[in-house]
Amino acid sequence: MSKKILILTGGGDCPGLNAVIRGIAKRARKEKGWETYGCIEGFNGVFNEPQELVLLTSKRTAGIHVRGGTILKTTNKSNPINFPMPQPDGTTKFVDRSDELVAKLKALHFDAVINIGGDGSQKISKVLFDKGIPVIGVPKTIDNDLSATDMTFGFQTAVQIATDSFDKLVTTAESHHRVMIMEVMGRDAGWIALHTAIAGGAEVCLIPEIPYDVRKLVKRIALRYKKGRGFVNIVIAEGACPKAGTIHSTAGDKGSEHVRLGGVAYQLSKQLKDAGCTAEIRETVLGHVQRGGSPVAFDRVLATLFGVKAFELVLEKKFGRMVAYQNNNITSVTLEEATKDYNFVKTDSYLVKAAKGLNISFGD
Ligand code: F6P
Repeated sequence: MSKKILILTGGGDCPGLNAVIRGIAKRARKEKGWETYGCIEGFNGVFNEPQELVLLTSKRTAGIHVRGGTILKTTNKSNPINFPMPQPDGTTKFVDRSDELVAKLKALHFDAVINIGGDGSQKISKVLFDKGIPVIGVPKTIDNDLSATDMTFGFQTAVQIATDSFDKLVTTAESHHRVMIMEVMGRDAGWIALHTAIAGGAEVCLIPEIPYDVRKLVKRIALRYKKGRGFVNIVIAEGACPKAGTIHSTAGDKGSEHVRLGGVAYQLSKQLKDAGCTAEIRETVLGHVQRGGSPVAFDRVLATLFGVKAFELVLEKKFGRMVAYQNNNITSVTLEEATKDYNFVKTDSYLVKAAKGLNISFGD
């Protein structure tokens, strides 16, 4: 009888997800007697009746590594520990359906479940593993905020997209003598903003880890105009916050566990004007463009190696682990280690020091 693996993608999509799926499926095909299945739309594919599970034949996975998104679809509304259930009065109640999921998975007799997702997904992996499901985790997020892996796939693609956009904004800023504010993703961590600022040559970089002082930014902008460099390019992460005050977020979609960020570029623009900035300001919110399209080569390689490694962990029966990239090597860590900490930009890191050495202001 064949052995069976189930793959699923959960949370926000990320360039490289399809490369992981293909990596697992191709590596599994090299072993005799393995079948790879995909679960549609996170765990919904198991919860839904009829269940939505597809056999990942070579025809289904051929060439998908170059495609963005995920052929398995994804959602941030199928967290089995905190599952959103619409109520008759229009409200949403969050319930723990993990035991139901475990029972359904056990009834399907999969020899392994490979859960590709971010921090939230790996916390789910840990709960399922503790309840007896043979789980392997694969980390994903464009934000690069998982601590057990030096890098996540999708991050380099997001930085490339943001840098390409930044370069375009420089020439228009210069032509109009404007201040251009470009907002990038980065809910809790400023990795995309910081890398883009260095790659693009920004004057200002604002990240969640370093609250900024608006008055300092106004001075910095004025000084640059005074020196005759009549334009300024700012990169701001969506989660960046001023020292005084907070940023406004909106409630998430129904059933979502997250508040929705996005729009800090407009808030910063207003703060600068209110604090006396006289330059003309324009705002660009890059948004989900950063998550779309084809992964860059680095992300394809990392994602593919993660897929191959995930299957090899299955072969070795090393369940309860997440694949990771550490010291230029593909390895694995326990799900406990994987979900212990976030990977924030360290304010005393060389990256921040070097950026400051390049005269990039963090507004601190
Ligand atoms: O976690 C990745 C991320 O891209 C964050 O940077 C961002 O805040 C969030 O996803 C957006 O999620 P959604 O797709 O639900 O709008």
